[in-house]
Amino acid sequence: MSVLVTGGAGYIGSHTVIPLVAAGHEVVIVDSFVNSNAAVVDRLEQITGATIPLIELDLRDREGLDRVFATGDVDAVVHIAALKAVGESTSKPLEYYENNLDGTFSLLGAMARHGVTDLVFSSSATVYGEDAPVPYQEDYEPLVASSPYGQTKVMIERILTDVAHADPRWRIALLRYFNPVGAHPSGLIGEDPQGVPNNLMPFLAQVAVGRREKLTIFGDDYPTADGTCERDYLHVDDLADGHLAALDAVRARDPGCRAWNLGTGQATSVMQMLRAFERAVGHELPYEIGPRRPGDLPAFWCDPTRAEAELGWHAGRTVDDMCADTWRWQSRNPEGYPEQVTH
Ligand code: UFG
Repeated sequence: MSVLVTGGAGYIGSHTVIPLVAAGHEVVIVDSFVNSNAAVVDRLEQITGATIPLIELDLRDREGLDRVFATGDVDAVVHIAALKAVGESTSKPLEYYENNLDGTFSLLGAMARHGVTDLVFSSSATVYGEDAPVPYQEDYEPLVASSPYGQTKVMIERILTDVAHADPRWRIALLRYFNPVGAHPSGLIGEDPQGVPNNLMPFLAQVAVGRREKLTIFGDDYPTADGTCERDYLHVDDLADGHLAALDAVRARDPGCRAWNLGTGQATSVMQMLRAFERAVGHELPYEIGPRRPGDLPAFWCDPTRAEAELGWHAGRTVDDMCADTWRWQSRNPEGYPEQVTH
């Protein structure tokens, strides 16, 4: 089967390509490179031994997208491409709504025109908002995210639910990612954020490799065991496997649209993550305690039982695996991918 992966050159997309290829699928990547690097494709070809076609395209380019589908070579879509920085989305809401929503409208239009109706969509734990009880369960309502980024995920989930309801050909998986971290164990691909990392793991990795002076822990006075925030970190390779499991499941299930949490069901604090990363690196890392970051929730993690029961999927890699693999990637690629190459 041929699978189109939007955002396939990005952090999660690139890792997702690997199990898809290993399962025998032909993968085509569509990516705009606004937050990714074409060098990743050479690395993916090294890892998989497959040739992976790459199409540089913004999903909002409707004619370009039609040309991709007109080849007749797309059987299913894994839609990962999106702008994803929570903080930035608050200062640039229009950019986020336009990019994430219109990109999805354009994609859905092309899929419908070409009779492609199997879709796996990247959603986020952020759709549960501030009031959901932990562990988060898929049936929780109402979904209200607190950032424009999160709202785009809520809105697209709603749109996809309505699309599947209106037309029984559609088979759609909504994957609510918790906190993806780690890197492929080859050390060839990993997370390579532009500028100062917003997220904990890439920041820690850049401190360890000497690109940042120290980690600032955003608050140690939360109502948690050690006072720092707790999250459900999962290895990006487990998350990648979850996309393959979801694709298989939607094709085996009755048509419709269904959400699955992808997480471990375990909470790890910022301080525990720092200590685990120090174990991976082999020495202590400099840090300070700073003020809370606006918008951070004290602690959340998922109930992963639906994904385990219905997708046959389980996030088995440990926090130590996540740190060891992140460190292998960062220490072998201290500045991330080589400068942008154009194909
Ligand atoms: N943190 C620090 N210092 C840093 C960076 C992060 O202490 O330099 C802390 C944060 O305060 C938080 C924890 O590390 O307590 C994790 O923060 P991340 O930014 O890595 O992850 P978030 O949980 O804030 O965000 C993630 C995803 C978003 C998603 C959100 C809600 O990155 O896409 O979960 O589900 F919207």
